[in-house]
Amino acid sequence: MTPSSRSVASPHVVNIADFRALAQRRVPRAVFDYLDGGAEGEVTLRENCRVYEDITFRPRYAVAFADCNLRTRVLGFDLALPFLLAPVGYSRLMHPGGEVAAARAAGKAGTAYILSTISGHKLENVKAASTGPVFYQLYLLGGRGAAEAGIERARLAGFSALVVTIDTPVAGIRERDYRNGMKELVGGTAFEKLPFLPQILSRPRWLASFLLDGGVPPLPNVVIPGQGPMPLIDVAAALAECAVTWSDLKWIRDVWRGPIVIKGILTGDDARRAVDEGAAAVSVSNHGGRQLDCVPSSLRALPEVVKAVNGQTEILMDGGIRRGADIVKALCLGARAVLCGRAYAYGLAAAGEAGVHRAIEILRADLDRTLRLLGCASIAALDRSYVNVPQNWDAN
Ligand SMILES: Cc1cc2nc3c(=O)[nH]c(=O)nc-3n(C[C@H](O)[C@H](O)[C@H](O)COP(=O)(O)O)c2cc1C
Repeated sequence: MTPSSRSVASPHVVNIADFRALAQRRVPRAVFDYLDGGAEGEVTLRENCRVYEDITFRPRYAVAFADCNLRTRVLGFDLALPFLLAPVGYSRLMHPGGEVAAARAAGKAGTAYILSTISGHKLENVKAASTGPVFYQLYLLGGRGAAEAGIERARLAGFSALVVTIDTPVAGIRERDYRNGMKELVGGTAFEKLPFLPQILSRPRWLASFLLDGGVPPLPNVVIPGQGPMPLIDVAAALAECAVTWSDLKWIRDVWRGPIVIKGILTGDDARRAVDEGAAAVSVSNHGGRQLDCVPSSLRALPEVVKAVNGQTEILMDGGIRRGADIVKALCLGARAVLCGRAYAYGLAAAGEAGVHRAIEILRADLDRTLRLLGCASIAALDRSYVNVPQNWDAN
């Protein structure tokens, strides 16, 4: 057992906030803030988490049941848990195991993993690591040629769905990254890295594992025709050149015949458009508060989307999930399942696969306990009758 996996096994690590603190201690400030931070004033980032407090429970007491059923179905896949692991770019910077470790932990827990285009590991290795379904999140980085090659590799490797993120026409400005030298860390010269060395040297275990892993790899799943894998440093500029539009959806559907999830929906209008474009699911999401600041929290946007979609497609949701009770609230409001981003990524940064595993187990135990306290025997039975929702939430 490594020191970091010992620390996550400690009985004093009881919730996701404890993992956040462990992650902060293990990785340099630039990496931690890249993971933890949001865009501009971080208004949406904070609100994503706070908003769950606006929903209160309506428990049914004096009922008993032997087992709690946490299972659900997403895109036809039977999942043991009503949450999936969200795409988190640059996961390999947090821990060398990165996307492979997270996918393996998801598979062992009986749930799905969504691999970001901005992955440090080859998509074939990520798929092979998991015994569960793995979805591929698509950015059009490097243009249609590179994207088409990535989609074809995902198909051959056995990925089950394509998740098209539409909220990233340019990268949001995450101010902490600028202050901490994230750009210099992933791509700068030794001279440019110099001012940021103290924070890196203060995390010798992370530094040793990072160097043994070969430093910053280029993106193995974004292969530019005639040039090779895209260097990490090019990502921000490349994102700005490759915004996904609704018209791209048509050729994406021609290239990818499996189910498509549209991620980054915040309004009823965009949700209906996604349904018209043939989406098998939408994910109500503001990218974890990392793109346009001051958009509503995902939970607040959920009722409008549920109403607009009117049962025509599956609804997922992500943003601010830090406890099982948060997941229960989102499901009561109409999400079929949620995606967790930072909740597992803090675990990854703290202790690799062992950290992701423990973060998932914490959320699983939370879910089981919350359902029992609510007097509800299964995820499938959750609905609005288990929560009080502020009256003005249904106004739109
Ligand atoms: C460090 C980090 C990197 C992310 N990278 C991606 C990405 O490459 N593609 C994407 O669609 N979403 C990305 N997201 C957004 C997540 O998929 C998800 O929407 C968000 O994390 C949900 O909020 P939460 O972290 O509060 O759970 C990223 C989020 C974080 C925290």
